[in-house]
Amino acid sequence: MSEISIRTATADDTPVLAERDRHIAEDLLRKKINEGEYLVVYDGEVFIGWLRWNLFWDNTPFMNMLFLMPEYRGKGLGKQLALFWENQMKAGGYKAIMTSTQQTGFAQRFYIALGYKATGGFIPSGESYEIIFVKELDTTPRFRLPAEDDWYGLELEGIENMTDENFSIEALEI
Ligand SMILES: CC(C)(COP(=O)(O)OP(=O)(O)OC[C@H]1O[C@@H](n2cnc3c(N)ncnc32)[C@H](O)[C@@H]1OP(=O)(O)O)[C@@H](O)C(=O)NCCC(=O)NCCS
Repeated sequence: MSEISIRTATADDTPVLAERDRHIAEDLLRKKINEGEYLVVYDGEVFIGWLRWNLFWDNTPFMNMLFLMPEYRGKGLGKQLALFWENQMKAGGYKAIMTSTQQTGFAQRFYIALGYKATGGFIPSGESYEIIFVKELDTTPRFRLPAEDDWYGLELEGIENMTDENFSIEALEI
């Protein structure tokens, strides 16, 4: 490795990002670069990875993708990139950051090592459990895992008498 640099992507990074990040349309990729929602990592002149994010609920930074070329993994660079973003978000005044990853992947250990906490999840059709992670950036906790009591809303009085034909949300005692 020569000199590693991490920075917010600029229009000059568009060709390499468009070639590597195949998960979003190129128009959107350009828009996100303009809005500062991409970070890039270079080893000297060599492009080696990126981080892409946006705002969940239009107010909480959510890391959508973090990717390093395979030969650069396991050397602490993913952590550096994630911390660079975290510091940017802190400087931007955000109080928490979020991301998600598949339960089956190694990345969950990566996020836990970085201080993220699992707060829930969902199962996309045909895929494995996707865990939502949150990292609070100050000392006021805002997110937590649902406790058993939080599911009271799902104990629906009256549902036993309903069928697909007569189902009515208003008739349920929630
Ligand atoms: C996920 C990814 C960005 C991590 O970057 P990385 O440079 O490989 O990880 P780092 O070397 O910075 O490791 C950071 C921490 O993760 C943990 N970690 C790293 N490799 C690990 C492994 N193989 N198993 C378990 N934990 C591991 C370590 O605890 C390490 O912390 P520490 O050494 O400071 O205690 C990178 O591996 C990658 O691009 N993977 C493919 C894409 C991906 O899965 N992206 C994430 C989901 S979108």
